[in-house]
Amino acid sequence: MAKLLIKSGCILRGTVNISSAKNAILPVIAASLLSGERCILNEVPYLEDVKVMGEVIKSIGARFEEFDKESIAIIASELSNPEPTYELIRKMRASFLVMGPMLSRIGRVRISLPGGCAIGTRPIDLHLKGFAAMGAAISIGHGFIEAYAKKLKGESIYLDFPSVGATENIMMAACLADGVTTIENAAEEPEIVDLANFLSNMGAIIRGAGTDTIKIEGVKELRGAAHTAIPDRIEGGTFMIAAAATGGDVLVDSVVPEHLKPVTAKLKEMGVEVTEYERAIRVKSCGCLNPTDIKTMPYPGFPTDMQSQMMSAMCVAKGTSIATETVFENRFMHINELKLMGAKIKVDGRSAIIEGSERLSGAKVKATDLRAGAALTIAGLCAEGYTEISDIYHIERGYIGLEGKLRKLGADIERIEE
Ligand code: UD1
Repeated sequence: MAKLLIKSGCILRGTVNISSAKNAILPVIAASLLSGERCILNEVPYLEDVKVMGEVIKSIGARFEEFDKESIAIIASELSNPEPTYELIRKMRASFLVMGPMLSRIGRVRISLPGGCAIGTRPIDLHLKGFAAMGAAISIGHGFIEAYAKKLKGESIYLDFPSVGATENIMMAACLADGVTTIENAAEEPEIVDLANFLSNMGAIIRGAGTDTIKIEGVKELRGAAHTAIPDRIEGGTFMIAAAATGGDVLVDSVVPEHLKPVTAKLKEMGVEVTEYERAIRVKSCGCLNPTDIKTMPYPGFPTDMQSQMMSAMCVAKGTSIATETVFENRFMHINELKLMGAKIKVDGRSAIIEGSERLSGAKVKATDLRAGAALTIAGLCAEGYTEISDIYHIERGYIGLEGKLRKLGADIERIEE
């Protein structure tokens, strides 16, 4: 098992290039199943989650070819197996995104209830309600969902919560349905817009992606298309916070500043100098951070995927900060690990009260999930002495070469194999 070993005392300086967004690429891979023609995805970061998604679509009969360093081709001319491999679906929640395209394209699917990060119960009721409204017959038993639909029908679907996954799954299913589907209270995340752009290039008719109402007019078939996903706003935000917390000066390059507004706003409140350029953001900090409060919300609110990293910065701010998590019910697992590093944090229901102190102390900690791992990395950069992070496979699900990028910025960080 690999670990990250971080030695304190670094001030991050330089330029970091941000990769394409994992959370945009995963739905795009699933969407490629909607066409029998070849789809090409460029600038793909070969993260663990991307590999798993590739295995998922292979298990249902699609071809997934890595033809050069960062490009993949997907050819789903025949989807011969309506049952994606159980172990793969259990491994990663996003693999459930194949359900909509499969139902729409081949009319049946038998799929395990999904797995993923242990950050709450994360049900899929909204996905299923949407498919049922579109005429799919759905049954659940023995940990599997079975669904049939000779032809899905366009419907008006109201989501009780603007779920990212449900919006994506229903949007994909609707592309080949009969008639018009309207998704109300839809998620507005940039990854939804990215997926809609890819689907539109495939010939889908979609209006309103990026707003709370999306209309999809079903078409008979979709063609192949090429796509480059948007930059990873969560990776970008992680480096912004790391720069701020270490008192550094970093140009976070290849990002869309608009996507990072909530992080920019909070860092400014903390006294950090943040300058936005067309495709980059510079974060300059003296290392003396003011406390702040955050409340996670669907986009354009503060992203839940940035809550734990921001908490690490709050741990070294001067004063009391509050972080409230409203999106997931169990996303405070990093707190116990941060406490091992000397952080003073009290949990009160969905809020964490963080008493900032100037320095954390290095310790042996565990990445309990993907973003928790990123938070501990930031904490390790700000801590005195050595920090050893285990279970870094979580980090590698979502960050490509995190330690290499940090080393380039001056961090003393090493990946060690045990
Ligand atoms: C996606 C992101 C994840 C991010 C999350 C919220 C991907 C691959 N993952 O996850 O990194 O943290 O958005 O921004 O893009 N819910 C239901 N019923 C459902 C679906 C969701 O109750 O059918 C609840 C979930 O339990 C959770 C909340 O809605 O509490 C948000 O979930 P959702 O937006 O669906 O997140 P994901 O798509 O799983």
